Amino acid sequence: KILILDFGSQVTQLIARRVREAGVFSEVYPYDVSDEFIRSYGAAGVILSGGPNSVTDGDTPRAPQAVFELGVPVFGICYGMQTMAEQLGGKVEMGKVREFGYAEVRARGHTALLKDISDFVTPDSHAMLKVWMSHGDKVNDMPPGFKLMASTPNCPIAGMADEERKFYAVQFHPEVTHTEQGEAILKRFVVDICGCKPDWNMPDYIAEAVESIRKQVGSDEVILGLSGGVDSSVAAALIHRAIGDQLTCVFVDHGLLRLDEGKMVMEMFAQNLGVKVIHVDATAQFMGHLAGVTDPEAKRKIIGREFVEVFQVESAKLKNAKWLAQGTIYPDVIESAGKGKNAAHTIKSHHNVGGLPETLNLKLLEPLRELFKDEVRKLGVALGLPHAMVYRHPFPGPGLGVRILGEVKKEFADLLRRADAIFIEELRNTKDDNDQSWYDKTSQAFAVFLPVKSVGVMGDGRTYEYVVALRAVQTQDFMTAHWAHLPHELLGRVSNRIINEVRGINRVVYDISGKPPATIEWE
Ligand code: XMP
Repeated sequence: KILILDFGSQVTQLIARRVREAGVFSEVYPYDVSDEFIRSYGAAGVILSGGPNSVTDGDTPRAPQAVFELGVPVFGICYGMQTMAEQLGGKVEMGKVREFGYAEVRARGHTALLKDISDFVTPDSHAMLKVWMSHGDKVNDMPPGFKLMASTPNCPIAGMADEERKFYAVQFHPEVTHTEQGEAILKRFVVDICGCKPDWNMPDYIAEAVESIRKQVGSDEVILGLSGGVDSSVAAALIHRAIGDQLTCVFVDHGLLRLDEGKMVMEMFAQNLGVKVIHVDATAQFMGHLAGVTDPEAKRKIIGREFVEVFQVESAKLKNAKWLAQGTIYPDVIESAGKGKNAAHTIKSHHNVGGLPETLNLKLLEPLRELFKDEVRKLGVALGLPHAMVYRHPFPGPGLGVRILGEVKKEFADLLRRADAIFIEELRNTKDDNDQSWYDKTSQAFAVFLPVKSVGVMGDGRTYEYVVALRAVQTQDFMTAHWAHLPHELLGRVSNRIINEVRGINRVVYDISGKPPATIEWE
């Protein structure tokens, strides 16, 4: 296994992710673990992460000296390179220019780390790497025994290696995807240089996560707010695997869920997995508070507030609970991070379902904190959750509350639920040559209820009924999005079915606005 020492970089977890992707187990520990810990850990190699400090300042982090005396390969990244240089007798200087972003690095010296890895070769036969840099300081003198491994015009010593001791260091960040060969470089280090077998996989991860959850909570009881979304569902399944009945889930149904969602969640968790789930049907309470409210922000606030209220009342009944579990995932951590030094450790927790109570006096259990969405999904499948649930489109915390324009009424929610279910069913029922449905090919798709009536004709009679808008978007990050070019026949089929099957809707329209200027949700 690989030991990663964290000097506080925002992207340290990415190192762990890349090493895991190479099939090798790794763990992240703070840089200031003891020499004793280092010696007893049993690492096949050590990676020193980047960090926000400057080694030229007096009192800044250093790697435990034992790291360099273990006799295993060591890889320093950015700050890790600088502290390695400093600790082994080289010199680091405060840079005059900060180098940030894309850079082209020339590989030198044919080291075992970079041999045959490059993005392109210059006309004069230099192997070049496209990398991502982020640093102010730089190494000016290499320590004794090191040779030059990489350079840029701005940073003549952008990489160095002592191949005798198998110490390697680079100034750029191989762990970020902008460094195109980053994964290959990290794989080279952990597999070829450290000699780790690339055989680590999701079941191993589950076993380790289960072990660590058990260690963390002991015999305490844990509460989790289950929303039916991917993250909280996978967290629930994982924690249940670890501690069984010590976990109680609270599932608040605000009456603004999708068709049969409550039933599905209860079937999945309570019946199939045997998880203790308290199902609170708070529809009446939510509808009561939403009556007469038309302003989108006011609606959001009410739904968020009532959610906390209901959750608090329910969890107060669980007198022995000491932990609040949340499905926080790594992007949430990064999103709410970014301030102060060693920020990756001191950030506050991101709230999933429209903000969970902070006043409960519970300790936080966040077993998915290190995982990315695609890893969470793979974990979910490995834990036995149905593929269709794990690969579901995202659904906002306020639910249909932001998809019923203006005042929310139960009658509107019931109509919308049925129209939405028809749309999703038809999307799922399409398959292209690659066996991909339009549901797979869109990032988010749903129906929106418009509380306006228009005239129609059905049979021989006049109708005067509501409008439903269909929305389907394609996006990577949900910050910007394109409307999906769904086939006209598909849209026609959905429209026909909704108008025929959902009494009260006589017109269906398709939303062809991008984000920006529109948003994905209508409110
Ligand atoms: P917008 O409408 O801002 O949506 O383009 C971007 C993404 O965020 C989701 N969304 C929410 N998710 N609580 C959530 O958990 C919310 O209050 C919320 N509002 C929007 C939206 O569904 C889309 O995926």
